[in-house]
Amino acid sequence: MRIAIGSDHGGYPLNEAVIELLESLGHTVIDHGVHSPAAADYPDAARAVAESVQRGEADRGVVLCGSGVGVTITANKFRGIRACLCHDTYSAHQGVEHDAMNVLCLGARIVGVELALACVRSFLSAEFTNEERHLRRSNKVEAIEREQAASA
Ligand code: RB5
Repeated sequence: MRIAIGSDHGGYPLNEAVIELLESLGHTVIDHGVHSPAAADYPDAARAVAESVQRGEADRGVVLCGSGVGVTITANKFRGIRACLCHDTYSAHQGVEHDAMNVLCLGARIVGVELALACVRSFLSAEFTNEERHLRRSNKVEAIEREQAASA
C-alpha cells in the first residue's frame, strides 16, 4: 500500500518507528515529516497527509501529534477523510472494517511504541467489509459531509 505519514514535534518520538515499520512491511511511504523535535504545527502535518489521501497518491494515512487529538480534528476537516484516534488494536481494525477509516491518528505522549506499532499493523491489515449495514452507515456519514459543504 502507499501510506502517507506526517507528524508534529509531539508525535516525533513515534514517527521514525512507524516509518521503519511501514518500510519493513513493504509499503511505499509518502513522508511528510517531521524528523526533528523542533516545534511544528499539527495542522500542517494533518493537511499534508489528508491531501495525499484525497489526491489518491496515498491509499491510507497515518498522522501523529502529542495527544493525537489535534491531527484527528484537522484531518476530518478534509472531504473524504475518515480519521480516527486509535490507541487500541480493536478500534484500529474495526474502524476500517465498519467505518472505512482511511487515516489512523496516534498520540506519542499517550501510547508507547509497541502498542502504537501494533495499532498500525491492525489498521493496515484491515479492509472495509462492504456489508450492507456498514455501507448504509458510511453513506449516511458522506451525506452529512455533503450537506455541510453545501450549507457553508
Ligand atoms: C503540541 O504541543 C501539542 O499540542 C500537539 O502535539 C497535539 O497534542 C495537539 O493535539
